[in-house]
Amino acid sequence: MASNTNPDAALAIAELNMTCARPFDDARAMPPQVYTQASFLEVEQQTIFQREWQCVGRVSALARAGDYLTADIGGQPVVVIRGSDDSLHAYSNVCLHRMSVLLEGRGNVRTIVCPYHAWSYTLAGELRAAPLMDRQAGFCKEAYRLPKIRCETWQGWIYVTLNPDTRPLSEHLAELSALIAPYEMGNYVETFYEEHVWDTNWKILAENFMESYHLPMLHRATVGPHSKLEEMECPPGHDAFNYHWITKEATLPIGNAHPDNTRLEGHWRKTTALIAIYPSHLITLTPGYFWYLILQPRGVDQVHIRFGGGLSPEFVSDPSGREYMKTLKALLDKVNAEDRRGVEAVFRGLHAPLAKPGHLSPLERPNYDFARYLGQRVSDENRA
Ligand code: FES
Ligand SMILES: [Fe+2]
Repeated sequence: MASNTNPDAALAIAELNMTCARPFDDARAMPPQVYTQASFLEVEQQTIFQREWQCVGRVSALARAGDYLTADIGGQPVVVIRGSDDSLHAYSNVCLHRMSVLLEGRGNVRTIVCPYHAWSYTLAGELRAAPLMDRQAGFCKEAYRLPKIRCETWQGWIYVTLNPDTRPLSEHLAELSALIAPYEMGNYVETFYEEHVWDTNWKILAENFMESYHLPMLHRATVGPHSKLEEMECPPGHDAFNYHWITKEATLPIGNAHPDNTRLEGHWRKTTALIAIYPSHLITLTPGYFWYLILQPRGVDQVHIRFGGGLSPEFVSDPSGREYMKTLKALLDKVNAEDRRGVEAVFRGLHAPLAKPGHLSPLERPNYDFARYLGQRVSDENRA
């Protein structure tokens, strides 16, 4: 642990590491402070969100030159934009004059114009024009350029990182690429995208996604009755991600492989992969569709959620595909409302004086691996 760590955060880290030292068959939930303490979030920002590769959306969202999306990564506003050269570029989304945030949300621009005093930038990040500044002798337009941020793509996803030294994304996720290769997720087509903010800590929502133990109870009014806990397989996680499989005939036609899908064979045709790429990219990947969450903390008590999904290429070509997707989306909205109640209730509960972390179930192996990932990162000796 770095010597400048806040004493409260240091205690929370020590307690987290004690939890992580337990073997899986005696594993416990993480201590409440890691979800409630502002100083612990500060450590997460430094050791995780300012250093890891993080997903910001699908490549297909930025199809034409000038299409952009914005994100906030570890306190740094970032814009990812398709340049006139047809490649993706990521920049600091902060003006080089008096540091206003430049672009908001998503959209398309020919030049990036600051909403404050109208300094404008090309899609290549060069300062193009700055009103009246030619009268200021000390000013040199050519000296200004938006700082570049590392941006790479993987299986149709856009990732950025503030860390100049971390390994390339394809290397970082190579083990996951091998595990889910038969799906060819890069060809899945996004059909919906939304943003939300929920009143819970980002990790509670991430952990909720990682385990299907809660399906029969929390989702008893929707998908619960179709969920059989004995159909779930939770192998140990990897350094960069954890996952679990559900193998069963899906209740919706798009949950199984389309008859035209010749890529997936045998049990793969009815297997769903639930993938959690650290820190906060969560993907449900089925033979016929996918949906995902991308999380960023907004303080300890709120999480910003990018929620999207879509179809495998065979269902995109199928005339019934869109109709199936409409049914699925309506169901996902109900399931998400149930998850929201669940994760907001956990966040309220773990503030209680008598709250105490209990044992994890065998189906919460991914949560155990996530806790160990977190414990290791926040204890990182090398951080500033
Ligand atoms: S802060 Fe952007 S032009 Fe002034
Ligand atoms: Fe759920």
